[in-house]
Amino acid sequence: MANTEQTLRAGVIGWPVAHSLSPRLHGFWLDHYGIDGSYEPLAVAPDDFADALRGLAEAGFAGANVTVPHKEAAFLGVDRLSPGAERIGAVNTIVVEADGTLTGSNTDGFGFIENLEAGDPDWRAAAGPAAVLGAGGAARAVVAALLDAGVPEIRLVNRTLARAEALAADLGGPLAAYPWTAADAALEDATLLVNTTTLGMTGQAPLEIGLSALAPGATVNDIVYVPLQTDLLVRAQAQGCRTVDGIGMLLHQARPGFEAWFGVAPEVTPALRRHVLAGLGG
Ligand code: ATR
Repeated sequence: MANTEQTLRAGVIGWPVAHSLSPRLHGFWLDHYGIDGSYEPLAVAPDDFADALRGLAEAGFAGANVTVPHKEAAFLGVDRLSPGAERIGAVNTIVVEADGTLTGSNTDGFGFIENLEAGDPDWRAAAGPAAVLGAGGAARAVVAALLDAGVPEIRLVNRTLARAEALAADLGGPLAAYPWTAADAALEDATLLVNTTTLGMTGQAPLEIGLSALAPGATVNDIVYVPLQTDLLVRAQAQGCRTVDGIGMLLHQARPGFEAWFGVAPEVTPALRRHVLAGLGG
């Protein structure tokens, strides 16, 4: 059933969901654009996910974001997929269509590339090889986006080599897999380095990787944003690299969903960034 109420509803489905910055992010935009709408945290356990998905339309939702651990279940549960979601194998944004059916898309790759281009306007996809650390869900979205942007060679570095090999085979294109012990070779003359692992995040193990093999003035992007200035970014900056922090990926990935649900194409501004970062403080 389509949403016939005045107040537009959307939200984020996760488990747990209390830590999610998305309500703060979308709440800022709803306020800023004066939209009569709500964006709610929706705590849904894995066993209840299928019912929650089916209940969205009836509850009058225009759609929802999906976060950990439900992105693959959403991929399997929606009625249709965007080509991007199909390729990545995960859904983070759902739109309830007028007939009540659900369309799933994945905006993580979009958010990644928009953040990279905003954070380093001089970055050029064609400039040289990219090295990507990690081979999980986040890496998948990042690699697909880099391929689409036209990066000529992408080197995937992962602790579990087989996982990097599987990702490379699956996405296809100029991709090569490297074990963690060959990180130096993977970084050799790379003009872009992206960390998609959880290493370096507060409470996780440090990201211990030498950066000296990178091309001079390479761009380094960490998708970890707690802390915002990770050790990787600090060390990269110290050796003259351009650095792009991770919070912008979260901000930009939210844009397509907000526009689909609330009818306004929202902007990522310094004020939004400050507002969302303040939510990390507590
Ligand atoms: P996400 O969907 O956020 O990418 P994920 O699928 O769990 O999360 O992937 C986490 C990534 O961080 C993986 O590349 C993982 O390496 P493995 O494939 O070998 O597991 C990497 N990672 C996590 N902890 C790590 C550690 N202590 N050392 C090296 N790599 C690590």
